[in-house]
Amino acid sequence: MSSSPTRRQVVRLFPVPSRSRPLEGLYLNEDLPAPVAGVPALVYANFVTSLDGRVAVSDNGGTSRLPEGLTNSRDWRLFQELQAHADCLVSHGGYLRALAAGRLGNILQVGTGDGSGDIVRWRAAQGMTGQPAVAIVSASLDMPIPDSLSTYAQPVHVLTTTTANEDRRAALEEAGYDVVATGAGPWVRARDAVEALAERGYRRLYLQTGPRMLESALRERVLARLYLTISHRLVGGDRFDTMVRGDAPLGVAGRLRLSALYLDEAPDLDCGQLFARFDTA
Ligand SMILES: NC(=O)c1ccc[n+]([C@@H]2O[C@H](COP(=O)([O-])OP(=O)(O)OC[C@H]3O[C@@H](n4cnc5c(N)ncnc54)[C@H](OP(=O)(O)O)[C@@H]3O)[C@@H](O)[C@H]2O)c1
Repeated sequence: MSSSPTRRQVVRLFPVPSRSRPLEGLYLNEDLPAPVAGVPALVYANFVTSLDGRVAVSDNGGTSRLPEGLTNSRDWRLFQELQAHADCLVSHGGYLRALAAGRLGNILQVGTGDGSGDIVRWRAAQGMTGQPAVAIVSASLDMPIPDSLSTYAQPVHVLTTTTANEDRRAALEEAGYDVVATGAGPWVRARDAVEALAERGYRRLYLQTGPRMLESALRERVLARLYLTISHRLVGGDRFDTMVRGDAPLGVAGRLRLSALYLDEAPDLDCGQLFARFDTA
């Protein structure tokens, strides 16, 4: 990474007064909020979106993928800083299938990329485990468990429904994974997932999941904080995903309060981006 000041800085726009801040450490050195009242663990999530609200686009074959250019090394750095705070990363079947197919990169370990040694040291200084545990949310249980989880000795918890396929469930248990049927389904409810993970001792859950879990976490009022990277681009196209779906509007469950906003106009970005932080309480 170049050491030019513009390359390293972002501008805090809110809270005022505005001022420059180093990108590195922006999320690592901040305090995370308390869990939502009545929720036994802190739940936070991160998304990256275009100005027209696209988090993914689908090609003609129906395969969903991140829009071109939406993510970059600076957003990735902050994503890893958010991972650093977690004692459990929450992933899902859809991600594990995309990972196995090579459509997405590996985001199941913390601080393993170039230039992220400080994240590893930061976790050690906090007395945290080298790697967080990983929870996998899946209704179908039709996904491969990546080898990296055993390579890094991460505890793995599979959260599913009582109607999940029994053979797949038995195979996962036989392979030594903790499989938890959290409810009747058809999907795992975020609140049930959080309670199951809190029972296992986890207190900081980073949702690395998609629209379905985010919707559930908002509706069931377990999400404390949403981090959002807003890329200064319009993506367009008819086939796309936004951050939440669902049959009904979210209503008050969708109301958030901005707690920080940073502008990133680094010269090597093909367009700028905002890093926004919203709290639900
Ligand atoms: N831009 C961003 O920040 C961002 C963030 C997340 C995702 N995305 C993209 O958006 C697109 C759609 O996201 P997605 O694949 O995450 O969609 P999703 O519909 O939220 O989840 C995909 C699959 O994961 C499993 N799953 C998720 N939530 C579950 C729940 N509550 N209970 C049980 N199983 C659950 C289900 O598959 P099984 O039951 O078969 O396992 C589900 O079909 C993808 O292209 C993704 O890469 C973008």
